[in-house]
Amino acid sequence: MTNLDAPAIPRHYLRASDLTTEGLLALLDLAEQMKARPHGFVEALRGDTLACFFEKPSTRTRVSFAAAAERLGMLPLVLRPDELQLGRGETLADTARTLSSYAAAIVLRTYAQDTVDEIAAAATVPVVNALTDQHHPCQALADLLTLRERFGHLEGLRVAFVGDFNNVTTSLVEAGGLVGVEVVVACPPGVERRVEGAIVVHEPSEAVVGAHAVYTDVWVSMGDEDERAARMELLAPYRVDEALVTRARPDAVFMHCLPAHREEEVTGAVIDGPRSVVWQQAENRLPTEEALLLALVARRWEL
Ligand code: CP
Ligand code: NVA
Repeated sequence: MTNLDAPAIPRHYLRASDLTTEGLLALLDLAEQMKARPHGFVEALRGDTLACFFEKPSTRTRVSFAAAAERLGMLPLVLRPDELQLGRGETLADTARTLSSYAAAIVLRTYAQDTVDEIAAAATVPVVNALTDQHHPCQALADLLTLRERFGHLEGLRVAFVGDFNNVTTSLVEAGGLVGVEVVVACPPGVERRVEGAIVVHEPSEAVVGAHAVYTDVWVSMGDEDERAARMELLAPYRVDEALVTRARPDAVFMHCLPAHREEEVTGAVIDGPRSVVWQQAENRLPTEEALLLALVARRWEL
């Protein structure tokens, strides 16, 4: 691939729709190579620093970004809100400008998408959205890599997303739309979000017909804790159980971004059963983030 026909690399990765179809496929190819050679890329960004700022809890994203940075030779710095001057009134823009002079990229998990947009507007280095209330674009990369590993292709796959219509759903719809993966969301009336390409139904059994994957996520996302009781009642009919999964294709897999609450959004029998690919999804966070960091920082899709 010459530089002229290489897929476009976005300045930041704030939403899955920041990628083009070709860019997303190039990223998955690079991630596959990185997964196969976990220690093959340590010189790629040696000497650079990665600033990771997390305003919400995280197990997978926080640790996989730190590990991905290490594998590229970067120094990962994980920062909590109480460790920065933001809490004492320093602006987002001033913080972004300052971090840009030390770090080669900024990874941010926060509440409002506007916060990520504001940081990106002021930063002079790439900014990566590590989850907001609206989007979880890094999760979608690992999900697509997992589906491609399982089915050998992406075009023509159908995913039934059952339960809430949240940040994970939004990014999966956007990323899936780029590569021909149709996402049918089964959620209660009123919960749906306006996302281009989303097909919304209200009956889980309708969504899973012909599905290659049945996906669910927690019923109470971070920041929604006040609505817990109401959401548990509203979403109870959307629990993913064996009876529902059996209505999908015989080779259908079960997906969940994790963390999971067994016997809430999914039964233990399904998430711990033979169709579950949740550990593969979690594992795939690392190589997809490693590929993303290399692309954004080094401005190329290959070594
Ligand atoms: N799936 C995911 O983003 O997990 P964490 O909240 O643990 O990072
Ligand atoms: N929808 C969940 C995803 C966690 C990875 C949340 O935002 O809490």
